[in-house]
Amino acid sequence: MDYQTLIAQVRALTQDIPYPVANLANTSAAIWQAMEGLNWAGFYCFEDDALVLGPFQGKPACIRIPMGKGVCGTAAELGQTVRVEDVHQFPGHIACDSASNSEIVVPIFKNGKVWGVLDLDSPYFARFSEEDQAGLEALIRILEENL
Ligand code: SME
Repeated sequence: MDYQTLIAQVRALTQDIPYPVANLANTSAAIWQAMEGLNWAGFYCFEDDALVLGPFQGKPACIRIPMGKGVCGTAAELGQTVRVEDVHQFPGHIACDSASNSEIVVPIFKNGKVWGVLDLDSPYFARFSEEDQAGLEALIRILEENL
């Protein structure tokens, strides 16, 4: 997977664009176009006391995820990426699409606090490697500059 190109694309799409929703929407679309083997790619944004569904590609998904719940809430609470090879083995996994078998969630920070998460789901087990984690974390650092 060519993360350099994807990151350059996200930079070009979001740089100096002062509209967070537009930047999240274009980033989810860029990821969806570039990566193979996904069935969901999108964002949850921290609002009030929970993660709320943001722009995404894929099937309609659950709207509100409490902090600490599911893979998304766990990554947000820890402030760390969570990579799950088999979601059926993850305690408290929230199944939005029964096709999902593996998942990666990368936290997004603003002013040192968790602002939201990037969530990618795959129908393949163990779809996401350490290389994917590093590439997606680098991509999120670029996106954070325009949120
Ligand atoms: N599976 C996620 C919920 C969000 S959907 O995958 C889009 C979770 O356990 O947090």
